[in-house]
Amino acid sequence: MQIQNPTAAMIARAATAQDEVTGDGTTSNVLLIAELLKQAERFVAEGLHPRVITEGFDIAKKEALSFLESYKVKSDVDRETLLNVARTSLRTKVREEVADALQEAIVDAVLCIHKEGKPIDLHMVEIMKMQHKNDTDTKLVRGLVMDHGARHPDMPKRVEDAFVLTLNVSLEYEKSEINSGFFYSSAEQREKLVESERRFVDQKLAKVVEFKKKVCEGSKKGFVIINQKGIDPLSLDVLAKNGIMALRRAKRRNMERLQLCCGGTAQNSVDDLTPDVLGYAGLVYEHVLGEEKFTFVEDVKNPQSVTILITGPNAHTIVQINDAIRDGLRAVKNTIEDGFLVPGAAAFQVALHRHLLKFKDSVKGRPKMGVQAFADAMLIIPKVLAQNGGFDVQDVIVALQEEHAAGHNVGIDLATGETLDPVAEGIWDNYRVHRHMLHSCAVIASNFLLVDEMMRAGRSSLRQSNAE
Ligand SMILES: Nc1ncnc2c1ncn2[C@@H]1O[C@H](COP(=O)(O)OP(=O)(O)OP(=O)(O)O)[C@@H](O)[C@H]1O
Ligand SMILES: [Mg+2]
Repeated sequence: MQIQNPTAAMIARAATAQDEVTGDGTTSNVLLIAELLKQAERFVAEGLHPRVITEGFDIAKKEALSFLESYKVKSDVDRETLLNVARTSLRTKVREEVADALQEAIVDAVLCIHKEGKPIDLHMVEIMKMQHKNDTDTKLVRGLVMDHGARHPDMPKRVEDAFVLTLNVSLEYEKSEINSGFFYSSAEQREKLVESERRFVDQKLAKVVEFKKKVCEGSKKGFVIINQKGIDPLSLDVLAKNGIMALRRAKRRNMERLQLCCGGTAQNSVDDLTPDVLGYAGLVYEHVLGEEKFTFVEDVKNPQSVTILITGPNAHTIVQINDAIRDGLRAVKNTIEDGFLVPGAAAFQVALHRHLLKFKDSVKGRPKMGVQAFADAMLIIPKVLAQNGGFDVQDVIVALQEEHAAGHNVGIDLATGETLDPVAEGIWDNYRVHRHMLHSCAVIASNFLLVDEMMRAGRSSLRQSNAE
């Protein structure tokens, strides 16, 4: 969809940027921009030049950002805190039961892939979707899930304590007799070709089987092959007879992740296999859900990459859960990287409003009005939260302000409309979300005011020149 209206387009871009940079706060950002404009309008209507307001916005923004620095709370990166962060984020997106079922998977996923001192790469959290049963069955697999199974009835379905051999070697005969007729000129020749190809594949198989026997000899170790190329039924048969679980046609990205998870190195040839190319998984098993087969690779050596398996009764629920998980992962990642959190439930905006009103007295001249407008605009967040909760907006705002005046840093309780202590309740927002939001709402609103002014000036000079 193309947005024609430049105002809408600019707001949409601000929201997208907010989402891209922080993964959260898009709604608040849009609300703040709109409210800044609304507050500014009052002053403009009284004849104040928009440029003066934008000056005030800029002063207020700088002060707000420095207030945020004093307001933010140093966050421990313990699991409990992160669970609170994940829960706060999730509960704004899915119903409470689902949110609570997801929070642990999200936090543990990020903790799993987080390596001290390195940036967190959320691509290492694979999200897989299964249309099945409940929306509260979503779970974390500390390893890999592949959406296919071994295609042989006798193959082991569950292997414990397993060596994992990742291969990129064709174990099917290439059917070149079909594609390249010019290789043979008689039926006999064709037979020979097929035979020699078969022999070629068999030789490769023999090497694999021999290798398996060597490494597993005298132990109860399992052996799993995950091959990016094909394995034909005859070959699967040979492998099954030798107690090997083998998967064919694994996706390339899974091959990479397998090596990350299980260790080992993918092989392009089965000549000279040595034990050091093997990876390891404590458990590999096939799981059948309805028509679909999945293979779980768990208890891996080094779960640098994990999988969140979403289950949901229908496509719509799955999409919703997927989005919530994405936001939750970002919130947890932000918390770890920021090292700070901001008490949520609109406590920050109420405190900021109060702070800016005091600060306003130190601002000289007309830009003061811009600071006033900026301060008042902050209250749109508690107002909308109150409204969405179905409470009387004025009552809620008055209660919040009275508590803040009494020195209590409270936010709004969405269940009752009363005030609550977000720190005690574990309602946390990301620091970078607020920082980005304060900056971007001020800049975008200022741009609007100035563009608006230019257009107005343009129109009036046009009118003037028409009149002349
Ligand atoms: N349990 C809660 N009680 C009170 N306020 C909460 C609670 N959970 C979240 N909030 C507040 O709700 C606001 C966030 O709402 P929401 O996530 O719907 O919008 P957003 O973050 O602005 O935009 P989006 O998430 O759509 O990008 C924050 O101000 C946050 O502090
Ligand atoms: Mg949000």
